[in-house]
Amino acid sequence: MSFIELKHIDKIYPGAEKKSVSDFNLEIEQGEFIAFVGPSGCGKSTTLRMIAGFEEITAGELYIDGKKMNDTLPRDRGIAMVFQNYALYPHMTVEKNISYGLKNMKVPAAEIKKKVDWAIDILGLSEYRYRKPKNLSGGQRQRVALGRAIVKDQKVFLMDEPLSNLDAKLRVSMRNEISKLHRTLGSTTIYVTHDQVEAMTMADRIVVMRDGVVQQVGKPMELYEHPTNKFVAGFIGSPQMNFYPVTVQGNLVRFETGETITLPDLILAKLNGREGQMTLGIRGEDIKLDEQSLSLYEKDKQTAVVENTEIMGNENNLYFTFGGQLTVARVSKYEVCQIGDKIEFAFTPSRVHFFDKDTEVCYV
Ligand SMILES: Nc1ncnc2c1ncn2[C@@H]1O[C@H](COP(=O)(O)OP(=O)(O)O)[C@@H](O)[C@H]1O
Ligand SMILES: [Mg+2]
Repeated sequence: MSFIELKHIDKIYPGAEKKSVSDFNLEIEQGEFIAFVGPSGCGKSTTLRMIAGFEEITAGELYIDGKKMNDTLPRDRGIAMVFQNYALYPHMTVEKNISYGLKNMKVPAAEIKKKVDWAIDILGLSEYRYRKPKNLSGGQRQRVALGRAIVKDQKVFLMDEPLSNLDAKLRVSMRNEISKLHRTLGSTTIYVTHDQVEAMTMADRIVVMRDGVVQQVGKPMELYEHPTNKFVAGFIGSPQMNFYPVTVQGNLVRFETGETITLPDLILAKLNGREGQMTLGIRGEDIKLDEQSLSLYEKDKQTAVVENTEIMGNENNLYFTFGGQLTVARVSKYEVCQIGDKIEFAFTPSRVHFFDKDTEVCYV
C-alpha cells in the first residue's frame, strides 16, 4: 500500500447541487512532493482539506500510512499544514510563534528548544529570533509559518498556496527554499497552487484538476510532452500552446485559412489512420524562424506579420496571426524582430499534437 491513498473520493458541500470533487484517486509514495494544480475553484483546497480532516469526505476512502483516516480527527492524522493566510501571533516573537504549537502539545521544554533552534537555523531566521511579525518581511513571515509546521515533526506536510501573498521575486526564492526544505526533511508533501510554474518547478508529480475532476497525474515533463487532453496541454506551459482547427487528409494538414503542412511518418503512425477535422496544437518553442529550420522545412514554410512582441533577452515571444488564430512563437535572441516585420517560419513537424475536436482527447 502507498503511504497516502485516496480512493474514489467525492465531496458535495451541504446544499450544493454538484460535486466539488469527483472520484479523486491518487497514490502517494513516502517522501514524494505532489502538487495539485488547476484554475481557481477546481477543488484543490477542498481535496487538501479532506486529507487534513477539516472537511468531511462525502464518499470514498482516505488512507495515511496504512490507516483509514475518514473519521480521524485532524490532530491525529500526523499532518502539518501551511496556508496562504498563515496567521502569526502578532504579540509573540519568531521563537515564540514557532514554539507555541509544541507547548500546546505538551512537548518537554528541552525538546522544544532543540526543535526551535533547528527550525530557526534551517530556515535562516537566526537574526530575527526575537523580532515580532510586524518587523519582518513577507518572506520572513512565511518562513516562520513554515517553521511552525516543521517543528511538529509530522509525517505529512500540506500546503495551500503558501506563496500567493508574496511578490514575484520572493515567490521564486521561497519556491527554492521549500524545495530545499523538502529535500532536507524528506517529508511527504502535498502542495496546492493555481500557478503551473510552481507546480512544474517544485513537484515530483503533478495532479492537474478541472471542475473537481483529475485530468492527469504525472511528472512535470510527462505533462508537458504528453498531455492527455487539450485542457492539460493549454494549462501547463507558458506561453500557452497554440491551437488551430484543422482538417487532416492523408499526410496533409489544412488550416482554415488554406495553408497546408505535411506530416512526418512518426506523427502519421500516432494518428493511426484518423482523418478529418481536429485540433492541432504546437508549442511556441516548436515554431522556428532560424535559417537552418527554414531550409530544413522549406516546403512547409509559412509567412506572417508580427503584431506584438515580448522581448526579455532570454525569453522572446513573437505574436502574429496564422491559420485564423493568434499565434505565439518563442524565439532565441537571434530571431528577435519588430512589430510590423514580415517573418517566415515553420512548425517543427514532429512536434505537433492533435486533439479530438469534440472530446479534446490528445491523440498525438
Ligand atoms: N465551504 C464551502 N461551501 C460550499 N461550497 C464550497 C465551499 N468551499 C468551496 N466550495 C466550492 O467548491 C468548489 C471547489 O472549491 P475549492 O476547493 O476552494 O477550489 P480551489 O482551491 O481549487 O480554488 C468551488 O466551486 C467552491 O465554490
Ligand atoms: Mg484554494
